[in-house]
Amino acid sequence: MKAVLIPGDGIGVEISESVKQVGNALCCDVEWEEYEAGAEYYEKTGKLMQDGLLDRVAELGCALKGPTATPIGSGFRSINVQLRQHFKTFSNLRPVHSLEGVKTRFDNVDIIIVRENTEDLYKGIEYMYDADTAHGIKLITRAASEKIARFAFDYAKKQGRKKVTCVHKANIMKLTDGMFLQTFEEVAKDYPEIDSDSVIVDALCMKLVTDPTQFDVLVAPNLYGDIISDLCAGLVGGLGFAPSANIGDDVVIYEAVHGSAPDIAGQGISNPTSLLLSFAMMLKDNGMQDKASKLEQAIFDVVKEGKKTTGDIGGSAKTVEFTQAIIERF
Ligand code: NAI
Repeated sequence: MKAVLIPGDGIGVEISESVKQVGNALCCDVEWEEYEAGAEYYEKTGKLMQDGLLDRVAELGCALKGPTATPIGSGFRSINVQLRQHFKTFSNLRPVHSLEGVKTRFDNVDIIIVRENTEDLYKGIEYMYDADTAHGIKLITRAASEKIARFAFDYAKKQGRKKVTCVHKANIMKLTDGMFLQTFEEVAKDYPEIDSDSVIVDALCMKLVTDPTQFDVLVAPNLYGDIISDLCAGLVGGLGFAPSANIGDDVVIYEAVHGSAPDIAGQGISNPTSLLLSFAMMLKDNGMQDKASKLEQAIFDVVKEGKKTTGDIGGSAKTVEFTQAIIERF
């Protein structure tokens, strides 16, 4: 198969290199078409992404993306958000599992986060009402709420999961989160075989850090989904261990949950696990289950050995040695 590869900014180049090497060694049938995008490309060219990138992703329907940086408080809008809205990748699927050999507070975390990916405060509808008052619009539609709820229940059913929990703050945002929750409850009636319940987002955060094992599949509007994703990544050792897939009807963009990590870029200590596991998700979805399992097993073995990861909270690793150790296991 052909797929677009977008290395992106910061550590994106190092972890994409790891994926390319591992993919070659795995002899999987993937031919990468590489495109540049991100803040570094913007600085060089004044453009956010290379010409042709959007068309090629649309044609191939599949991309693996490294992190792209976004200026804080001003400047251009996030490329991730733009890609998600452009390709209508309505669901951001983020599995979070404990890994043997990674020292954390809990060793049996197994949660699937399903984050609505196209609306909410990420719609980018912001304006200055006057010089001292900024407005931001939280946009929630019934259609997108229904689509993400159905996706979560269908996924739970397919994966043999027991329960789907809706994350919200409908006690305060009665119309927006209220509609998200109400739609979820309506959809739940079509899946009597799957348990369903709901939790207010602040209480969820407390429950996650005290006993994450009580959760199975979480479905959340965009902003809460983003925040709890990082929280859950922290539960299993850090952002270096968290894969994801942005899923649309016609396009899927696989990417690590983490950002460009400018604090460690270029030091050779970025953990490629999250992008490698995202790559494994891509292989699975494209009929290469055997290769995906082989890759996952090699990653788990190397992580378990513990010698190539530093064990700090970001989950950083000796990138080159880590990659080599995975390849040696094929
Ligand atoms: P970040 O996720 O880049 O880093 C947070 C912390 O986790 C840092 O201490 C970093 O060193 C560590 N970390 C992240 N990935 C790691 C890895 N693979 N191995 C080891 N340690 C890792 O978040 P931050 O610093 O808030 O954002 C940096 C930039 O990335 C920003 O411009 C932000 O907008 C962008 N970003 C992009 C995303 C994407 O492209 N999907 C997602 C999140 C942030």
